[in-house]
Amino acid sequence: MRLLLFSLLFITTLNARLHRLKPNRKLKWDIAKNPNQGPMKAQPEQIHLSYGGSPSTMFVTWLAFDDTGNGFVEWGEGRAMDRKSTAHVYLFQDGQSGSVDRYIFRAVLTGIEPGKTYRYHVGSQFGWSAIYEFTGLKERSEGGFKMAVFGDMGSQNARSLGKIQEMVQKGDVDMVLHVGDMAYDMNENNSEMGDEFMRQIEPAAAYIPYMTAVGNHENNRNFTQYVNRFTMPGTENGLMYSFDLGLVHYIVISTEFYFFTSWGWEQIGNQWRWLSEDLEKANDNRHNVPWIITMGHRPMYCSDFDGDDCTKYESIIRNGLPETHAYGLEKLFYKHGVDIELWAHEHSYERMFPVYNRTVYNGTDSPYVDPPAPVHVVTGSAVSVRRIYCHQKQITFDYEISMRQ
Ligand SMILES: [Fe+2]
Repeated sequence: MRLLLFSLLFITTLNARLHRLKPNRKLKWDIAKNPNQGPMKAQPEQIHLSYGGSPSTMFVTWLAFDDTGNGFVEWGEGRAMDRKSTAHVYLFQDGQSGSVDRYIFRAVLTGIEPGKTYRYHVGSQFGWSAIYEFTGLKERSEGGFKMAVFGDMGSQNARSLGKIQEMVQKGDVDMVLHVGDMAYDMNENNSEMGDEFMRQIEPAAAYIPYMTAVGNHENNRNFTQYVNRFTMPGTENGLMYSFDLGLVHYIVISTEFYFFTSWGWEQIGNQWRWLSEDLEKANDNRHNVPWIITMGHRPMYCSDFDGDDCTKYESIIRNGLPETHAYGLEKLFYKHGVDIELWAHEHSYERMFPVYNRTVYNGTDSPYVDPPAPVHVVTGSAVSVRRIYCHQKQITFDYEISMRQ
């Protein structure tokens, strides 16, 4: 039994790891010996950008169904796209017996100047994408950046997708924050659902950074779809990371470590320690970056009656693990003065009054000006096959309850 448990743990951990291929690997085909040889499925697809951690850096990630040996981003200000960044190539095997191999390409572009627009395409001598463009992140003339923030958007019935694509392409959004749950689920149909989702977001994600948090619908095989398909700054697996943009320090965490413990309990403690350190550093830097915004999939407060964690008096995310109350997030975030907490999972939208310890702090005429407690936003209504909950009356009722406590 012990051996079996160990094996399971080892296999599942292995699945979540990235398998980076050596640059000088031997390929299945050898074009030098026979020009008729080459990769069978070389066309790049599922192209998306992500923020590299500073406005001068951008990640470009894409996928092909065969190993093209190498991959590049050719980019630049002019039509010639005279700069070239080489991608690292990763083999993504999702662990399902019917699935094909996928090759993920990750390149980093550096030296991006704020406000300048660059054209780019991705691929190799065996196939190139269409040409896309992006603009180096720069504060808007009216101040700040515009973020599209949503969670829970599937490949099917993605009711918000058209709006997001249009706003991005017309320059109305600078960055996407997808707060977990995508495709429903990416591993379905031997991961073809994931491919479909990544193709659907490309008309937005190829133009501006598409930043993500992991949700419960990404839990398959220790979040391997999420880990392999996305590239996030300062991290190999994209499950927990932080970055500064303008006046805001963004922190992204996995709430799912608390619920999918068969992948290992230690992930909860590891994240907690990282989070505590990151919050401390962010507080030391408040004079430069005064705001702290967190993003995690599963909320600690909500007004639903669906039995989810946020409906419980002893919410695990809020209060910590059962009995011990270890690793609860509410006190930690409150202690470090987090300003806004972005959540999803509930297929509804609600913005709350500042709240801490189940008590609403809205004692001023302007509850959102210098509030004494964090403001929670649940935004899980981008929509999938699971649809939206509509319950205006319940929301009102629950606020009255909260304010009396
Ligand atoms: Fe969810």
